[in-house]
Amino acid sequence: MATAMVIGAQWGDEGKGKIVDYLAAKADVVVRSQGGNNAGHTVVTGGKAYPLRLMPSGILYPGTICIIGTGVVVDPKSLLEEMKKLEDQGIDAKHLCISTRAQVVFPYHIRLDEAEEARKGSRKIGTTKNGIGPCYADKINRIGIRICDLMDKEVFAEKLKYNVEQKNMLLEKLYGVEGFDYEKMLSDYLNYAEKIRPYVTDTNYLVQTLVSEGKNVLFEGAQASMLDCDNGTYPFVTSSHPTAGGACIGAGIGPHMMKNIFGVVKAYSTRVGEGPFPTEQKNETGNRIRELAHEYGTVTGRPRRVGWLDARAVKYAAALSSFDYLAITRLDILDSLEEIKVCVGYEYEGKEIKEYPADLKFLEKVTPIYKTYEGWKEKISDIRDYDELPEKCKAYLEDISRIIGVPLGIISVGPEREETIVLKKVF
Ligand code: GDP
Ligand code: IMO
Ligand code: MG
Repeated sequence: MATAMVIGAQWGDEGKGKIVDYLAAKADVVVRSQGGNNAGHTVVTGGKAYPLRLMPSGILYPGTICIIGTGVVVDPKSLLEEMKKLEDQGIDAKHLCISTRAQVVFPYHIRLDEAEEARKGSRKIGTTKNGIGPCYADKINRIGIRICDLMDKEVFAEKLKYNVEQKNMLLEKLYGVEGFDYEKMLSDYLNYAEKIRPYVTDTNYLVQTLVSEGKNVLFEGAQASMLDCDNGTYPFVTSSHPTAGGACIGAGIGPHMMKNIFGVVKAYSTRVGEGPFPTEQKNETGNRIRELAHEYGTVTGRPRRVGWLDARAVKYAAALSSFDYLAITRLDILDSLEEIKVCVGYEYEGKEIKEYPADLKFLEKVTPIYKTYEGWKEKISDIRDYDELPEKCKAYLEDISRIIGVPLGIISVGPEREETIVLKKVF
């Protein structure tokens, strides 16, 4: 049995898409298990960039089965648009499977997301406004509409009616914005239903079968550990569980099936949206890294907040998901820096804090403890052999691995598929 999992170890946009695409070369299957089109995973190959949102990052390989699993929230309109864009780029999605149990995102979820953000004002989360939170809320509230419901016209019509009535009340009476026309939504969604029907299947059974047949199954996390709804910087989080445990639930498998868990760690940190970010650099250093790395959102185009690598947060993420290996990405971005800092712990009133703070007021008061490394000042993107990396670069990598307590597995030195150094082969 060969399985591997790719999980964001920070606040998202670590380069999970690049790592998944790289590993997918030898995978039979790639499975997305949580999140929705709030994800933006960019895969670059042959000089072409493919920004993916709902589509698993294995889609560029013609023979690889790509699964949108049970824990995902699916906006069918957005999915069909994504499929069309890929088709225009010569990529067909024939090998796509969508879980019968996945939840469906509706326009009222998007409008509720926007309205709630507006209502919160300065307390807003800074969501991607794709209706992710309201859709997961409906699931937990047991009024969500699943893909299998959408496949059954009668069941769907009844569930949609209840939801449109309820959402219109909320939208009009609570938020003071316009509601939706039931008949129009019904007809639009029945139309999407026919388009996605050929891909719909029981993906829990499919994944379980493929894993037990010994196929190479790769699980692709979206979002990241520090955005986990329970364990991240709540409430500034997403509404799913981007951890190894969350992937088990969202893919419909047990924890023993999950091997080779890679925590993807960008060599510095970024965050989009609001919320605490202890190592944020709102200064020249932050601006310089943002421009060097072009840190602007794939989905929203928002400038990402930038800071030094927070190894303390990554150590917490490693514990949440039992990382087996680290996949360090965007290391080449640091090539020109004279010195590089890493946060190795947090302190408050001169005392180091052992637990990762839950209380955001407290988290805002902690001071990061930094360790400074000399920059290697050399271009590394052409290097494919770990031993050929500059000594200072290896010292930096090995020290962060030691601090986090997880061995190095993959080092990414550029966005292209080939710009990768592999220390741990899994397939
Ligand atoms: P994801 O959401 O975790 O998949 O990450 P994003 O795709 O949103 O953002 C990562 C960005 O970094 C993408 O534009 C990738 O093409 C790019 N990228 C990934 N790995 C590397 C790397 O090692 N070096 C450089 N320079 N870019 C990288
Ligand atoms: P990938 O998979 C970075 C952030 C949003 C916001 C919070 C809640 O590309 O790493 P949501 O729309 O999910 O309700 O927003 O989570 N967020 C992400 N940040 N990368 C992502 O995905 C994200 N998906 C959501 O910016 O702060
Ligand atoms: Mg992204």
